[in-house]
Amino acid sequence: MKTLSQSPTDPGFVQNPYPFYDTARAEGDLVFWQDYNMPAAVSHKAVQDIFRDRRFGTECPAELAPVAPSHLAPWLAVEAHSLLEAEPPRHTRLRALVLRAFTSRAIAALGPAIEQLCHDLIDAFPSEPFDLLDAYCTQIPVITICRLLGVPESMAPDLLRWSHAMVAMYQAGRNRQIEDAAAQASQDFAAFLTEYIEQRRTDPRDDLITRLIAAEEDGEKLSRAELISTCILLLNAGHEATVHSLGNGVRTLLQTRISADVLHPDTIDRTVEEILRYDPPLHLFTRYAYEEVELFGHRFKRGDQVALLLGAANRDPTVWSDPNTFDPTRAITTNSSFGGGVHFCVGAPLARLEMRIGLPILFDRCPNLRLAGHPDYADTYHFHGLTNLMVRI
Ligand code: HEM
Repeated sequence: MKTLSQSPTDPGFVQNPYPFYDTARAEGDLVFWQDYNMPAAVSHKAVQDIFRDRRFGTECPAELAPVAPSHLAPWLAVEAHSLLEAEPPRHTRLRALVLRAFTSRAIAALGPAIEQLCHDLIDAFPSEPFDLLDAYCTQIPVITICRLLGVPESMAPDLLRWSHAMVAMYQAGRNRQIEDAAAQASQDFAAFLTEYIEQRRTDPRDDLITRLIAAEEDGEKLSRAELISTCILLLNAGHEATVHSLGNGVRTLLQTRISADVLHPDTIDRTVEEILRYDPPLHLFTRYAYEEVELFGHRFKRGDQVALLLGAANRDPTVWSDPNTFDPTRAITTNSSFGGGVHFCVGAPLARLEMRIGLPILFDRCPNLRLAGHPDYADTYHFHGLTNLMVRI
């Protein structure tokens, strides 16, 4: 396995990580990424095979778990009960509860309200240049997930603040200041939800929080800690990546000056998939090996970690011809943006719906939409999203 070195905070890499991915993929399915001190899967096959391989998982083997520093206790308390960090059978139980709210019927029913929300947001656009990421791309997912869960929309600014502080823990350049901010945000977020859940116990409605509270009251299906962690995960995951899928998508559509034909009802599905393939908002997830495994010529020991590079998998030339070209007319082939295997994104149908509705309405209502500044990516690898998206209409 070839060893490669690439700082994840190097400005050139942050703006365009794809040349590094191409170099890495040319070396094989796995390379050793020195800066992360672990092997990285860079081909579509390697990423998908490891996502689906039950000999790998997200939960650190207990005997190898590092001692938790006390200043991180509130953050770790949320993480410890998160679906994303759990493996079967705990994962199966938690995921089944959440999935009940994500049936295709329940998601499709959100469509008319998302449509109305898009129009209301556009009605409020200013005439001078403004940040579309803030005014549109952020608002659609954050308000929609508030509605789905049943949390007041007026909480959106707090949810965004808490979520940004918490997800910074997964980004390159984590330091004590980031850790303290994440711990504080976790504590505040959990305190808000604890109080809100108490309030909602006697006020059941047709929303996800009501169903999760009922599961907790059942006693066996969901503990109090799992209830809080699940709400936090859904609220955070419900917007962080979708905001940047919309932002990266608008940027690509404007920069490639592609005709609005790709946003018609019969072409939009391909366009959304191509946006997700071409420039996904999340680029790296890790897995632990649970036993000795020989894969792609490398022997993993129990506890070894491997990085799965989604952005690299999505540009694999053995799966997509001319993969570095944005081509919304290509046939849909499942890409890795939503992961794979048992942790495959629960919110994929909702994220796709928000993009399918939000992009055509935006370009239809704002036919003169133009960039009003250079949209730069934020130095937040493994997230890949813009700092802002200044436009004029
Ligand atoms: C375009 C937007 C989105 C992208 C690119 C995305 C991507 C992903 C990825 C790659 C994973 C797998 C992580 C892993 O295997 O370790 C994941 C898991 C997850 N996502 Fe998303 N996501 C998006 C939107 C959403 C939305 C809107 C929601 C909620 C409403 C959501 C909720 C979740 C949850 C709960 C999990 C954990 C599933 C599990 O562990 O079983 N995501 N997402």
